[in-house]
Amino acid sequence: MAEVSGLARVSERLQYRVQLSFLSEEQLFQPGRLPSPTLRSLRLEVQLAGEQAEATVTDADGMCVFKCFLSRDTECCHLGKDTILISLGHSSALLKFESHAEFSAFSNTLKTCQSQKKEYSVFSQRTEEASAVQYFQFYGCISQQQNMLQDFVRTATYRSAILQNHADFRDKVVLDVGCGSGILSFFAVQAGARRVYAVEASSVAQHAETLVKSNRLSDKIIVLHGKIEEVSLPENVDVIISEPMGFMLFNERMLESYLHSKKWLKSNGMMLPTFGDIHLAPFSDDHLYMEYYSRANFWYQTCFFGIDLSSLQRAALDEYFRQPAVDTFDISILMAQPVKYTVNFMDAEEKDLHRVEIPFMFQMAHSGLIHGLAFWFDVAFVGSLVTVWLSTAPTEPLTHWYQVRCLLQTPVFAKEGETLSGKVLLVANERQSYDVHIDVLVNQTGLRSGNILDLKNPFFRFA
Ligand SMILES: C[S@@+](CC[C@H](N)C(=O)[O-])C[C@H]1O[C@@H](n2cnc3c(N)ncnc32)[C@H](O)[C@@H]1O
Repeated sequence: MAEVSGLARVSERLQYRVQLSFLSEEQLFQPGRLPSPTLRSLRLEVQLAGEQAEATVTDADGMCVFKCFLSRDTECCHLGKDTILISLGHSSALLKFESHAEFSAFSNTLKTCQSQKKEYSVFSQRTEEASAVQYFQFYGCISQQQNMLQDFVRTATYRSAILQNHADFRDKVVLDVGCGSGILSFFAVQAGARRVYAVEASSVAQHAETLVKSNRLSDKIIVLHGKIEEVSLPENVDVIISEPMGFMLFNERMLESYLHSKKWLKSNGMMLPTFGDIHLAPFSDDHLYMEYYSRANFWYQTCFFGIDLSSLQRAALDEYFRQPAVDTFDISILMAQPVKYTVNFMDAEEKDLHRVEIPFMFQMAHSGLIHGLAFWFDVAFVGSLVTVWLSTAPTEPLTHWYQVRCLLQTPVFAKEGETLSGKVLLVANERQSYDVHIDVLVNQTGLRSGNILDLKNPFFRFA
């Protein structure tokens, strides 16, 4: 790192005097001279953090007007002997340094950051490469985006939540985490947002950009193609919107990306959705339980084209029982009032979702065999005007999340009035999902059961 005389260097912090202007893609490719800086007498501070550096530009009042990470992926070029252009998706920041010494020192910092070996973002540290590739290929398909858009309950509820809270969007800067087709960004603009940063990691980002352009909203919606854990925004935002819920709320581990995005939220900012509730209740369903057995019965055959398959019957049964069933059901199968566990997106941190422990105590409303636990979730959009709920409960219109049921290895019998206690432990894995550990105990009889399921590999049972 070059030392620059006359400039303050506070341990890992470097400061420079700069002027700044933002350029759109169109301006950048205009022939002729680049515009002169529009923001003057600013302070650029570079904070070194491990192998990364964060560059923040503040005005005379200390307000942040620009922020980005300097890393191996930073795209930039030198213009003349005192100006650097840093590209940020579809716009760029032009930084003009007050002295050549400051310009050189900053260039050196930039070069050092760019020559670092590949950094590992929070996302890549917690995700197997193969899982991420498959995941973003899935969301890169227009057909998958269409599938979500056509979930009317989902899309219409998001639109109501945003438009009914127009006061929270009017003239505000918004971040859309995992924008997909860009639908939520369009809703934010309809509610009056001044600017929306629409971040999308899959290749569908290019289609979102096409929609933005064809709807003539390029001045308002800026699509950034990259993972939220890895992209830089030029400023902090007032509102974060996202649709990060997977099956059983937690599948896909996108809630962590949503929580991660709070690093760009102003201190008085808002998260929509604001919190999520997962509900669970014991159920009785002989038919479902027998169906899992019958699927494994294939492996009972002792002469399948002359081959004895029966040595794999146990392994097949174990594999099937690890699969949560995704479908819907009549609420008459529920044996007790559900228990609820809340994740507050305003307060929660990513690490809180690495291990989620949900203790429960159900008072049995009916006598009978308990075959497992049923799960569904709601999310709440707490705006300053109204609170809007999106529910995937079995009592509500069906969504593409359906409901999820986890079977016990062995059913347990309980009588009306008895209590069923235990816990569900969700342990995050590198396949963007969870291992679901279930333990139950009928307190009055001491009967116990349990199971460990793989949420990444559900059994889609709906017709
Ligand atoms: C459930 S879809 C929602 C799409 C869109 N917001 C909508 O409501 O129709 C989630 C989107 O987030 C994207 N995504 C998931 N994790 C991401 C991450 N870490 N960074 C950026 N995008 C991500 C996915 O590729 C996918 O397009």
